[in-house]
Amino acid sequence: MPSVPSVPLNNGVTIPQLGFGTFQIPPDETCETTVAALEAGYRHIDTAQMYGNEKEVGQAVRESGLDRADVFVTSKLDNGAHAPDEALRAFDRSLEKLGFDYLDLFLIHWPLPGGPGDYVETWKTLEEIYRSGRAKAIGVSNFQENHLRRLLDSSTVVPAVNQIEVHPYLTQEPLRAFGVEHDIAMEAWSPIAQGKVLSDPTITRIAERVGRTPAQVVLRWHLQRGDIVFPKSVTLKRIQDNIAVFDFELSEGDIGEIAALNRDERTGPDPDTFNG
Ligand SMILES: NC(=O)c1ccc[n+]([C@@H]2O[C@H](COP(=O)([O-])OP(=O)(O)OC[C@H]3O[C@@H](n4cnc5c(N)ncnc54)[C@H](OP(=O)(O)O)[C@@H]3O)[C@@H](O)[C@H]2O)c1
Repeated sequence: MPSVPSVPLNNGVTIPQLGFGTFQIPPDETCETTVAALEAGYRHIDTAQMYGNEKEVGQAVRESGLDRADVFVTSKLDNGAHAPDEALRAFDRSLEKLGFDYLDLFLIHWPLPGGPGDYVETWKTLEEIYRSGRAKAIGVSNFQENHLRRLLDSSTVVPAVNQIEVHPYLTQEPLRAFGVEHDIAMEAWSPIAQGKVLSDPTITRIAERVGRTPAQVVLRWHLQRGDIVFPKSVTLKRIQDNIAVFDFELSEGDIGEIAALNRDERTGPDPDTFNG
């Protein structure tokens, strides 16, 4: 079974560098699929209040027979729950649905810069949750540099991660440099751009040369850059292939060639204008 390295976050908590994404997995498929991922060796699951499948993620952790402490679980605050009191209640509902007494990581899902609410105020609630010990780490998602600067200027806890869209067509170099400078780990969502980058000729050529699938090459590229990834799949063979990326290496040349595919192309919304 592949062994996934863990990386330290800025508060000393460690996170498996590769996990399993659950966006768009329907609730009635989530338990079975997540159990399959845990059986394949994944020990890090990424869910969100918005995905509607927290209950089934919690059920999968229990059905797997693994200790709760051996699985790193992230959830994220719903866009409709930014008001401080509501954020606290929404967090409690997450724990209740998951059947857990703590989360490993809890994130503000989107900054929603046009309101309603203000992410700086919402962050204070996450700080309160963190201080209570019910989230081992807290972070943000889809924050641009201007959102992070505002947050850092007015808060005490530095986000442990910023979970953003990253793949070969959107390499996010400036935001990654900002994260390195402030010790905020970068989590790459849609790491294979929902399949869009897999037929790119540069990627298929490298994949052929190293004898791996295009998805494995792209995931390996993320890992060698130091990012945290959690590809999603409901297909058993892909679930297994996506974690089998720790027994080969890409050259510096390959890494550079893939990074050069950047064209600042998003598959998802622009966080500067998205308001839920
Ligand atoms: N914070 C945020 O705002 C945010 C936004 C989006 C995503 N996320 C997180 O990031 C995770 C991953 O992103 P994502 O689900 O958007 O996209 P992704 O992981 O880049 O791609 C998933 C898609 O690629 C296919 N796929 C997976 N492995 C494959 C392989 N080896 N070969 C060919 N196709 C493959 C899957 O198909 P099948 O399932 O049919 O196999 C699915 O259609 C999410 O599940 C979620 O946890 C967070």
